[in-house]
Amino acid sequence: MPDKIAYAAGERIPRHIAIIMDGNGRWARKRGLPRTAGHAAGSEVFRKIAYACRDLGVEHLTVYAFSTENWKRPSDEVATIMKLLNKYLHESIETMARDHIRLRVMGDLNGLSPELRALVHETDEISATYEGFQANVCINYGGRDEILRAARRYAADYAADPSVALDEARFSAYLDSAGIPDPDLLIRPGGEQRISNFLLWQCAYAEFYFTDVLWPDFTVDELKKAIAVFQQRDRRYGKVKTT
Ligand code: IPE
Ligand code: IPE
Ligand code: MG
Repeated sequence: MPDKIAYAAGERIPRHIAIIMDGNGRWARKRGLPRTAGHAAGSEVFRKIAYACRDLGVEHLTVYAFSTENWKRPSDEVATIMKLLNKYLHESIETMARDHIRLRVMGDLNGLSPELRALVHETDEISATYEGFQANVCINYGGRDEILRAARRYAADYAADPSVALDEARFSAYLDSAGIPDPDLLIRPGGEQRISNFLLWQCAYAEFYFTDVLWPDFTVDELKKAIAVFQQRDRRYGKVKTT
């Protein structure tokens, strides 16, 4: 049982953790608050977990903040989430270099406001100036949409030069996650056990960890519990067990 598995510091730490930050709305409803209060609480938790990942030696944290399907929500909820993302990027521009947290936004930037796009370019520029831990925030992101956008870009390049063969490595380089290793561990809080269009290509061999804890209640101890479970997993990649 996860509760009994001890986290081993420094041992088999996932290089890349992905998180579907789910359960904000239910967290708020349980407290008689508007759903938007859940999103505000959730964005603070993201900050805390990003620092914890950096300190534990994780290289990449990729979080699902807003999906291509989330536009179907009530417009006031969407507006609040966009405002929170705006605020988060603004604050990060102030603190990223100091705290050694590089930030990259993944998703279809064309669907974002010009203001948000400008902030994304600014964080990219800062991130390019140093090395170290990287947080990837998925906004207007859908796994299928990402694969389609990549395929369209490859088709355009192929039209210009048909000699370029397509293999897995080359296709990966067309994705929003170009240059980022695949996630080792995918965590989904909030009680649902589905992928909801997140990192479909990249999670081919990720280990999945589901918990009923709602995202705004997620703690560093929960993170360590997920890593402890990961440390017990036997990743075979289609081969037979070696030990
Ligand atoms: C995740 O929390 C945040 C986003 C999808 C933007 P939800 O808003 O989906 O919370 P629940 O699942 O309704 O509780
Ligand atoms: C996934 O959560 C998207 C994000 C966390 C940003 P959803 O709440 O949108 O997923 P479903 O609708 O339960 O599959
Ligand atoms: Mg949800």
